[in-house]
Amino acid sequence: MRDKFGREMKTLRLSVTDRCDLKCRYCMPEEGVAWLGKSELLTLEEKIRMVETLVELGIDRVKITGGEPLLYPRLAELVERLSRLSLNDLSLTTNGTRLEPLARPLKKAGLKRVTVSVDSLDGERFKAITRGGSLKKVWKGLMAAEEAGLTPLKINCVVLKENQEDVVELARLTLEHPWEIRFIEYMPVTASVRLERSEGVPPREVRRTIEEALGALEPVASYAHAPSTDYRFPKAPGKIGFISSVSDSFCSRCDRLRLSADGFLKLCMAHADGLALKPLLQEGAPPEVLKERILGAVYHKPEGHAFWFTTPAPGEAMSRIGG
Ligand code: 5AD
Ligand code: SF4
Repeated sequence: MRDKFGREMKTLRLSVTDRCDLKCRYCMPEEGVAWLGKSELLTLEEKIRMVETLVELGIDRVKITGGEPLLYPRLAELVERLSRLSLNDLSLTTNGTRLEPLARPLKKAGLKRVTVSVDSLDGERFKAITRGGSLKKVWKGLMAAEEAGLTPLKINCVVLKENQEDVVELARLTLEHPWEIRFIEYMPVTASVRLERSEGVPPREVRRTIEEALGALEPVASYAHAPSTDYRFPKAPGKIGFISSVSDSFCSRCDRLRLSADGFLKLCMAHADGLALKPLLQEGAPPEVLKERILGAVYHKPEGHAFWFTTPAPGEAMSRIGG
């Protein structure tokens, strides 16, 4: 499955719910967003059918996202069914608030690993950025995930001026733990959350701060299509990744498609373009027709983003896109 630039699609980000129990400042507006109605969502069977179809077309890595995916009631069942497909990776990105009780059941269902968002190691700042989240709870979730073997653990940190001073302590974690800490550049994806450009911190600045405090980083290889560029401190068990979504775009190596909770196949995070699959499923479109429509849409995947220079589609929320 290739687009007109020759990029082959291998990774699916599957949003299983648009709901979230936090409202991170860089993702959701303070007043919240309207949740999708039940009748608009894909059913469990529809989700599975869509992933199966996409796997037949070449997808071999699935990342489950949300909203907050742990709010999806039938998650373990979904993971169990997806784990039977021939995938090279089946992971999940979560805010971690409900991870502690769910880590073990999810591992048992066939989930390989998790990525947890931790923007600060300071409880107060964590609470402010997530608008109410508890770092303690998330930390317990992280520990439970490690114990359950949902590894290698990754931690996402979107760096804003507000949590800039936390990057050194987060980076320090890699000296003791075999975790990957990923510093993400803020992306103005949606119209509903548009921070000032100056509120974000470019990854090269984050890297400089970290190296000044903890010494030089050395490059390490990662998945060829990964958005992050990875490093480690000499002999450290963990890794540090920088996701320079804006200042050094990785669009030319993008292999990702996104399927929203209501069945919209989104071709690029930064563009409204895509294909509404729910109506096709409801019409009873046969597999060949679904595949043909998907291939046709994917061919026209936009070349990339021009964040800060374009106006995003109104009504879109990052919480619906799932990162
Ligand atoms: N810019 C960059 N990263 C974001 N995320 C959410 N919103 C944004 C944004 N505006 C990241 C979070 C989360 C992942 C799914 O997406 O770090 O871990
Ligand atoms: Fe791919 Fe679009 Fe993201 Fe660029 S902005 S990396 S093209 S999904």
